[in-house]
Amino acid sequence: MSLLDDLRAALGDRAVLTDPAETAGYSSDWRRLYSGLPLAVIRPSSTDQVVRAVTLCAKAGVAIIPQGGNTSMVGGAVPSVDGTEIVLSLERLRALRAIDPVDLTMTVEAGVTLAAAQAMAAEQGMLLPLSISSEGSAQIGGVLATNAGGNNTLRFGNARDLVLGLEVVLADGQVWHGLRHLHKDNTGYALRQVFVGSEGTLGIITAAVLRLQPGVTARASAFCALPSVEQALALLARLRARDAGALHAFEYMSGGSVDLVLAHIEGVARPVEAAAHYVLVDCAASGPEGAAQALQDRLEDVLGAALEAGELTDAALAQNEAQRLAFWKIREEHAEAQKRAGASIKNDISVPLAALPELMDAAAAACRALVPGIRIAPFGHLGDGNIHFNLVQPTGAGGAAFLAQSEPLMEAVGEVVRRLSGSFSAEHGVGRLKTGMMQSWRGGVELDLMRRIKSALDPAGRLNPRVIFPAKNAEDAAG
Ligand code: MLT
Ligand code: ZN
Repeated sequence: MSLLDDLRAALGDRAVLTDPAETAGYSSDWRRLYSGLPLAVIRPSSTDQVVRAVTLCAKAGVAIIPQGGNTSMVGGAVPSVDGTEIVLSLERLRALRAIDPVDLTMTVEAGVTLAAAQAMAAEQGMLLPLSISSEGSAQIGGVLATNAGGNNTLRFGNARDLVLGLEVVLADGQVWHGLRHLHKDNTGYALRQVFVGSEGTLGIITAAVLRLQPGVTARASAFCALPSVEQALALLARLRARDAGALHAFEYMSGGSVDLVLAHIEGVARPVEAAAHYVLVDCAASGPEGAAQALQDRLEDVLGAALEAGELTDAALAQNEAQRLAFWKIREEHAEAQKRAGASIKNDISVPLAALPELMDAAAAACRALVPGIRIAPFGHLGDGNIHFNLVQPTGAGGAAFLAQSEPLMEAVGEVVRRLSGSFSAEHGVGRLKTGMMQSWRGGVELDLMRRIKSALDPAGRLNPRVIFPAKNAEDAAG
């Protein structure tokens, strides 16, 4: 029997897709940077079925591309073009296995979307404090495999800070049953952290125990217009000094990036006067009746003082939930608006917070010198020092000609980031897009350690083979 017959026997006919019309959605990435051709897309519905599929692929020597919601910004889950790889979609592992309001934990399977997991926690009066723009499609397995960050990192950390336990299918088909619910457990290496952020190269996460927070009963949000990035840092310090625990998000949007949202997304309006810089502040608290008003009053106080100090030029405080969601829509539609605006280059970078003003000025100047008319549209998680320093093609110019400038533009931004002791891959991971940068940014002992871990857990190199590590030759890089 062939591998595909074996897989059909193990998973059922409908769980093995080979018709290009059915596999198309699993074969290219959200940004349409990569397009592949899988041998098949398989859709197991349980950990046991994942084990059977992985064991069969191991026996046949076939590589596996684990895939969640396929929302990677760096081509992290795309099969090769040669029809030799299996895409293993986790989308049918969708159970909430347990939820515990005493321990504040939930055990969810990999294919549950982040938005569904948030809703499951909220239904039980708890908060899953991880929020990203793609949460409606992104799935827990992928969120963990890429150590997603998002809007609440400054308060609750990245995905890895929320994981207490994992269930992982290893490259040889063994299962690591590490679904522990313990808030403290110093028993040797924290193995779960090896898999979080490994981009599907070390094992396939099939379920996780996530740490929750008590439910939030009050929220207050403001959309602010600011004259400079320095003033945004001043506002952040002011908010932290007054109410650090309540500050859940501090999201930055440049004037250029908000203009793209206004131009390309329907049903949005700028809630404040036009400015070169904007920040969306989101505060939350739990408490008895009156907590909401108290939270709103505190935020209003801080904004009033910031306006007086000249840190803000304008601010709108959400008066109700609909307004709050309208503010968030502007922020969350940034990636979609930039996609619609034409060809774009994403620099997902981080620097120490104090270096942010210099980063923004120096990187913008370097890009303008290379491509006159370039649209500079940075936005992102300013409270974490993580900016998506995204570049959009000049209006009316050809997209292909612009993308041909990717390398010099990314190098120019990278040079500034390096000088400021930052990272070229702060949030989205390396995927296939940034493998070429690994040698110069992480070469030597660090990359060698990563290779040793990879070969210990996946000696045949069959799990997501073309991500993270620099290609062995130019053909691999192009593949
Ligand atoms: C975001 O923060 O909205 C995403 O990481 C998207 C992006 O970089 O385009
Ligand atoms: Zn982001």
